[in-house]
Amino acid sequence: RYPSHVRIVEVGPRDGLQNESRILPTHIKIELINQLSKTGLQTIEATSFVSPKWVPQMADHKEVVQGLPKQSDISYPVLVPNMKGLETAMQCGVKEIAVFASASEKFSKRNINCSIDESLEKFSQVVSTALANNIRVRGYISCVVGCPYEGTVPPHMVTKVATALYKMGCYEISLGDTIGVGTPGTTRLMLEDVLREIPADRIAVHCHDTYGQALANILTAMEFGISVFDSSIAGLGGCPYARGASGNVATEDLVYMLEGMGIETGTNLTRLLRTGHYICDKLKKPSNSKVAKALPIK
Ligand code: HMG
Ligand code: MG
Repeated sequence: RYPSHVRIVEVGPRDGLQNESRILPTHIKIELINQLSKTGLQTIEATSFVSPKWVPQMADHKEVVQGLPKQSDISYPVLVPNMKGLETAMQCGVKEIAVFASASEKFSKRNINCSIDESLEKFSQVVSTALANNIRVRGYISCVVGCPYEGTVPPHMVTKVATALYKMGCYEISLGDTIGVGTPGTTRLMLEDVLREIPADRIAVHCHDTYGQALANILTAMEFGISVFDSSIAGLGGCPYARGASGNVATEDLVYMLEGMGIETGTNLTRLLRTGHYICDKLKKPSNSKVAKALPIK
C-alpha cells in the first residue's frame, strides 16, 4: 500500500537558509550543496531568484548557481517569483525553476505582494516562457491547510490553485503546509479534494514540522499514493510570519522512517548526518533532526 520508492526534494539550501537572519557566506552555501550532492539526493533546491529586499539571505543567487557542480545528473531547481527572476535564472543557465503561489489571499499578499489571481496571471507568463526555453517548472502552493493570517484554509482553494498551476504546465505541484499546523485529519481532507483533479504522481507534499506532525502527514500522503516529499537537512528553517514555526521535516528523519519501512530513497543516511552536522556547526545552531540528536556522527 505504500510506495516502494520515494523521491526526496532537498530544500535546505533554499527554504532552510532563507529564514536565517545571519547572512552566510556564499562558499558555505556551495559547500553545503556539494556535500548534499554526495548523499544520493537527486533534487536539491539551490536558492531563490527573488528580490534581495524581500529575502536578503538569497541575494547571492547568481553566485550560488555559478558555483554548482557543472557535470551532474542532479537537478538544482531555483525559486522564481516573476519574469525578472526568470530572466536572471536563464542567464545563469538554470535548467529547472519553481514558481510559488498560495492558497490563502493574505499570505499571497505578504509573500509576493499580489493577490492569488494576479500571481497566477504572472506565473502563466513565467511558466510558458520557461517551458519554451526547455526549463522544467515545479509549482508550489503555500498554506494548504492553514495560514498565519487567515487560519484554516478550505481544501477547494488548494485545488483551485493546484489545477491552475498544473494546467500551465508545472510537472509537479508541491503542497506546502507552510506553518506546520496540519494533522493527518486535515491533510487527508485536503488531499482528497486535490486528488479529484490531479493525479497522485504529479503531487508532492512539503511539510514544516512546527507541531511535530510532519512525518505523520507524510505517512498519510503515502496512503494516497504520493511518493515525492520535500525535506530540509537538519530540519533547517523557520517562518518569520509564524510564532514557534520550525523548518521543514528533517531529511535525516524522513530517510530514517522510510528506511525503517523498507522504502527506497537512494540516499545515504550517514552522509546526510555528516552534512547536517557541517551546516549546524556553521550556523552555530543545534540540529532540528531527532535522528541527528540520537545518532553519533561516524
Ligand atoms: P515587489 O516589491 O512588489 O516587486 O515584490 P517590484 O517589482 O516592485 O520590485 C521591487 C524591487 O525588487 C525592485 O528593485 C526590483 O528590481 C526588485 P528596486 O527598483 O526597488 O531597486 N526585484 C527583484 N530583484 C531580484 N530578483 C527578482 C526581483 N523582482 C523584483 N526576481 C516580489 C514582489 C515577488 C519581487 C517580492 O515579493 C519577492 O521577492 N518575494 C519573495 C518572497 C520569498 O522568497 N518568500 C519565500 C519563498 S516561498 C516559501 O518559502 C514557501 C514554500 O517553501 C512552500 C511552503 O513552505 O509552503 C515554497
Ligand atoms: Mg517551505
